[in-house]
Amino acid sequence: MHEHFDRLQPYPFQRLKELLAGVTPEPSLDPIALSIGEPKHAAPEFVRESLVGALDDLEIYPTTGGTAELKQAIGRWLSRRFSLPPLEAEQHILPVNGTREAIFAFVQAMYDRRLAEHKPYVVMPNPFYQIYEGAAYLAGAEPHLLPCLAEQHFNPDYYAVPDDVWARTQILFLCSPGNPTGAVVPLETLEYLLGKAEEHDFIVASDECYSEIYFTEKERPIGLLEACRQRGDALYRRAMVFHSLSKRSNLPGLRSGFVAGDPELIRPFLRYRTYQGGAMPVQVQKASALAWQEESHVEMNRTAYREKFRRVLSILDGVMDVQMPDAGFYLWAGTPISDTEFARRLYQEQHVTVLPGSYVGREIDGVNPGANRVRMALVAGLSECEEAARRIRAFCESL
Ligand SMILES: Cc1ncc(COP(=O)(O)O)c(C=O)c1O
Repeated sequence: MHEHFDRLQPYPFQRLKELLAGVTPEPSLDPIALSIGEPKHAAPEFVRESLVGALDDLEIYPTTGGTAELKQAIGRWLSRRFSLPPLEAEQHILPVNGTREAIFAFVQAMYDRRLAEHKPYVVMPNPFYQIYEGAAYLAGAEPHLLPCLAEQHFNPDYYAVPDDVWARTQILFLCSPGNPTGAVVPLETLEYLLGKAEEHDFIVASDECYSEIYFTEKERPIGLLEACRQRGDALYRRAMVFHSLSKRSNLPGLRSGFVAGDPELIRPFLRYRTYQGGAMPVQVQKASALAWQEESHVEMNRTAYREKFRRVLSILDGVMDVQMPDAGFYLWAGTPISDTEFARRLYQEQHVTVLPGSYVGREIDGVNPGANRVRMALVAGLSECEEAARRIRAFCESL
């Protein structure tokens, strides 16, 4: 067994299952789950057709580096979306089987244990996507958590991080738009962090898998590669972004994403993945290339999420501490009672499942920044989200 295996924490959904075990939900109400961030809008028809039409590709071993067709489609998308000059796809881009596995594998490949005594940190937001923490533990690194508080607009206060922490950092994880908070890291902060990365020689790994779920064109989240260009860095040094079709295109089951950035990181990561077995099936690559080239389904997605937020926020207004997030599909709502008690009783009385915020955060110096908040994923259809909001309102009013 791996020496650090015991450091892996139970996953938030396992903890939720334990919290709700033995609780009988109100039998007259249908269940509504807002707990899991699994998109429920329809997968694009052209992706289904492409997959079905590519069954002969089952006979082909895919290469880890991916097809030129897919990487070029991704390169064009990146240039369009983040106003970048044309990218040398072979150098800068690598397909991955969803960002989860890529985030995990990236830390294993990049964390240098020889530096562990002086540079032990993988820095990450708190609350977070738990894979950052597990990846750090299994690599033998020390997670260093930065709280995301309401007074900092739910982003870590990066400017308050002392230089001796940056000096001890090997990898900094950003999550923008954030899960669970929905906060976007602004351009000037990205530039500041890239400056710190240069000064202290660490990698900035930016998880941008929610970047396409935004509400108006003016609020389109900025990306780390854009910030590199703004700093005049055409090679995207020390930068790696993680993107996915799961949220953008409602394709969580396709397992398709990519990493892009510094060729000095892409090259060894490709080598690592060749051994790890990270190749994407050819039929998935073909379907993915189409999905990265088509925007109308993504626009429909955004319209649907915008409408759900509008309606749900108007129903919850005044009974819960809720705000429109910068982007993403989560409501990061303050609770009038403890988050676990809220989740348990809401399930019992209204048959609605939400994720306690404390399960996606860690307590540091007596404070868990997820405490007294719940994460609600507005992934279900509009009427179901509205019904959930009405039940949550009734529950809050009954307290
Ligand atoms: C912040 C964040 N990063 C990465 C992922 C992984 O997504 P996927 O592996 O489907 O690309 C998720 C999934 O929920 C997430 O919330």
